[in-house]
Amino acid sequence: MFLLPKQSVNAHGNTFRLIKRLQNGIQKWYSLQQASTETNQKRRFDTYSQPLMKTPMPGPRSKELLKSLRQIQDVTAVQFFTDFQQSQGNYIVDVDGNRLLDIFCQIASLPLGYNHPDLIQALLNPDNASVIINRPALGVNPPVDFPTKLHETIIEVSPPELKNVTLMGCGSCSNENAYKMGFIWYMRKKRDGKPPTKEELESTLLNKVPGSPKLSILSFDGGFHGRTMGTLSTTHSKAVHKLDIPAFDWPTAPFPQLKYPLENFQKENQLEEERCLDKVKQLINEYENKGSPVAVIVVEPIQAEGGDNHASVAFFRQLRNIAKEVGAAFLVDEVQTGCAATGHMWAHESWELDDPPEMVTFSKKMQLGGIYHKDEMRVDESYRVFNTWLGDSSKLVLLEAIINCIKREKLIDLAKESGEVLQTGLKSLASKYPNIISRPRGMGTFCAIDFIDSKKRDEIIADLKNNGIMAGSCGALAMRLRPALIFEPYHANYFIDAFDSVLSKHK
Ligand SMILES: Cc1ncc(COP(=O)(O)O)c(C=O)c1O
Repeated sequence: MFLLPKQSVNAHGNTFRLIKRLQNGIQKWYSLQQASTETNQKRRFDTYSQPLMKTPMPGPRSKELLKSLRQIQDVTAVQFFTDFQQSQGNYIVDVDGNRLLDIFCQIASLPLGYNHPDLIQALLNPDNASVIINRPALGVNPPVDFPTKLHETIIEVSPPELKNVTLMGCGSCSNENAYKMGFIWYMRKKRDGKPPTKEELESTLLNKVPGSPKLSILSFDGGFHGRTMGTLSTTHSKAVHKLDIPAFDWPTAPFPQLKYPLENFQKENQLEEERCLDKVKQLINEYENKGSPVAVIVVEPIQAEGGDNHASVAFFRQLRNIAKEVGAAFLVDEVQTGCAATGHMWAHESWELDDPPEMVTFSKKMQLGGIYHKDEMRVDESYRVFNTWLGDSSKLVLLEAIINCIKREKLIDLAKESGEVLQTGLKSLASKYPNIISRPRGMGTFCAIDFIDSKKRDEIIADLKNNGIMAGSCGALAMRLRPALIFEPYHANYFIDAFDSVLSKHK
């Protein structure tokens, strides 16, 4: 019989006792959360009824913590410190006890608000402990339930006809690997089934042609696809993100700058989209002629970091067709738009494409990154699109609960319903304060509005924060709204009233 050394038995005994105590603690906390949820619940999970402000933002405790953190790292983006235990539903609570209605949600990455009971329950399930404790390297030793879990979660909600998935860590990492997949696919087509030559294999080790070929990716002005070395060459939202970093010479096409209200500028907007598509074609020819053909076209369904720039369904359909005509992979970056907030699981579903994109990337609300792709994009040789973890099983545990909740609570419908209230409210405020705000726009709760200048935008976002609303900015002029999927019409009305009151002081 295999006997553990005495010390090890004790260590195991201690570990089990510790886990038991931890579980009891979490269970007690969960019961308290449940009790308060039941007393205050409206339609879905939410515990607080409104914001509660105790200090100006950031409060004294946040300032103290900032000082301490500043000694170790850059804190210029830190707004305040969060009390994640007290934060509930749509409300974020800071370390000074201020409670804000959160319509930014950890940079659009929180699907079910704070401390959702379904997620706590998933964490309490002892069956899930082993993948949290022993993080699997999913490309090498996946757990027994991995295929079932993938089928029941990520594949269950996949975009139409994309039934392959490769998991990654974050959004940048997903795009970075999608680019590689696109290049490998392009060269495989070019080799027409032949294996790589000796010269290719030798030259690639020295970063030289023909093994490291001259290929390019077409992206758009104002686009954002990440901050890693490859993705940064396709990111064009803010100069400061790119400054001092060497970049690939890849084509950047203009993205349509639509005029609002859309119904008043149909002709102008159509011409603007045609201008951008002509430029796409022109750039593809130019790069083909200079020996660096476009292998991938990457686009966001709504340019998010770049300022919430929209384009029409017709624009995206034509772009898809151009990619097909020139033999480039069409990659739709749904890192920010994906996972239900637009009133579709995937924003690009609204384009109803005849031929789906070759690849769709995701992250943020999905809790882990990844690439949905067509069969033909599969990379058959091991370790070419690969890393140690290839995703994270512990996040799949949460994603399973999130997807079940989205379905059970009909949260895609809710995003449409609450989005309607937000969009109507923003439109009416834009007519009331034409000297301060303009161009209200949105899809579901994925909404934005522009300010006359960035100074006014930043002042108003700061004022909103001091009035209990946590919003975000994007691009040069926009305020963006990214509430959780449990954001209800009454939260939307609360926000519109609070925004109205703040705007009235800036007239
Ligand atoms: C559309 C889009 N793509 C990619 C990224 C990069 O994701 P991450 O910050 O997780 O690397 C972002 C992040 O905001 C994004 O909005």
